[in-house]
Amino acid sequence: MSDIRTQVGIVGAGPAGLLLAHLLHLEGIESVVIENRSQRHVIERVRAGVLEQGTVDLLHEAGVGCRLAKEGMRHEGIYLAFGGVRHRIDFASLTGRAIAVYGQNEVVTDLIHARQATGQPLFFEAADVAIHDFDSASPRITFKHAGGAHAVRCDFIAGCDGFHGICRPAIPAHALSIFECEYPFGWLGILAHAAPSCDELVYSRHERGFALFSMRSSKVTRLYLQCAPDEDIRNWPDERIWSELDARLSTSDGWKPNQGEIFQKGVTGMRSFVAEPMRHGRLFLAGDAAHIVPPTGAKGLNLAVADVRYLSIALAGFYRERSERALQEYSAKCLRRVWKAQRFSNWMTSLLHLSPAAAPFENRRQLAELDYVTSSTAAMTSLAENYTGLPME
Ligand code: APR
Ligand code: PHB
Repeated sequence: MSDIRTQVGIVGAGPAGLLLAHLLHLEGIESVVIENRSQRHVIERVRAGVLEQGTVDLLHEAGVGCRLAKEGMRHEGIYLAFGGVRHRIDFASLTGRAIAVYGQNEVVTDLIHARQATGQPLFFEAADVAIHDFDSASPRITFKHAGGAHAVRCDFIAGCDGFHGICRPAIPAHALSIFECEYPFGWLGILAHAAPSCDELVYSRHERGFALFSMRSSKVTRLYLQCAPDEDIRNWPDERIWSELDARLSTSDGWKPNQGEIFQKGVTGMRSFVAEPMRHGRLFLAGDAAHIVPPTGAKGLNLAVADVRYLSIALAGFYRERSERALQEYSAKCLRRVWKAQRFSNWMTSLLHLSPAAAPFENRRQLAELDYVTSSTAAMTSLAENYTGLPME
């Protein structure tokens, strides 16, 4: 068995694990990143694509914002559509802030290249990844790679292995509190070779269900339809997808999405989930390993980024001053932000989706709320400050 010694062992090479590795590198802290999927799979996995202003700023400060500056699309607002009319929420004038539309797979590509340029270890296709002794001062990660068995001895383990990873389940159940809420619908998402027909996102509440217009580039449109959580994608030939998107997104001014070849489609369920605390001994959870939000508020990636920012600062404090204070505050600090994002994501979801069992009263209440949110400056400002990202503590 080969024995590797490092300061921080990181499980998972999604945005959380990769960005943590990079921020630690900038602080002169060594790490080993262990990922069970292939580099290609990690890059090609289709995920969300909205970066809060603070996420954009952090990627720039960390020196990984070069392609983002060129290819990311700055958006100063979004549209909320209902009753056949698009209403613009102007982030720039309400908050002075903006967002960037840049696919998560582009962020991951940039971070993998940054990691590889440092020459520090990043293992893909690791098998049987397991964590040990994280309630002691000398935790270990074991895994198999390229036919050999490996052990990483480290001071700390960062569990950045997503919702289905092995780190959170390794914590004794009695030491974690789980808070959860499932939604009675999912999203059917597609990518199409079609020029975006609007230069900002359109979130549409429609009698047939929610739909979202987004984009990836000047040639690629990203679209979503509310569907059943267990929807079978085989029931959705391209013609049905386009006719449903047309029905739910077209507005009375004649606007609708451009059509083109659909080159990716899939269904995702929606849930809200939080595991507390985000630390057990020398194991720190970050990103989807600790919390999941429904995608309506576009917060998942941004929360992962905020977690690893706090964690890198806390670890830097430990190595620089031998102070554990920031490490002790890590979980509570992250959770304050996580719960505000949970609140916002749940609110955006209930604002725009049709619940299968909703009473007529609920439909009227929802329309009144949309009317309020698109006409009151106070309500629009609240949406805008949450969407573009609350300030970092
Ligand atoms: N061993 C090693 N790696 C693992 C294991 C394991 N046993 N299990 C999972 N992983 C890897 C996954 O393959 C994935 O690459 O951990 C990584 C976790 O990445 P993400 O799921 O992308 O989670 P995170 O980095 O926290 O990023 C959060 O991703 O899921 C979206 O909506 C979410 O945008 C948000 C962002
Ligand atoms: C996306 O572009 O994939 C996207 C945009 C906004 C969301 C969710 C997903 O709220």
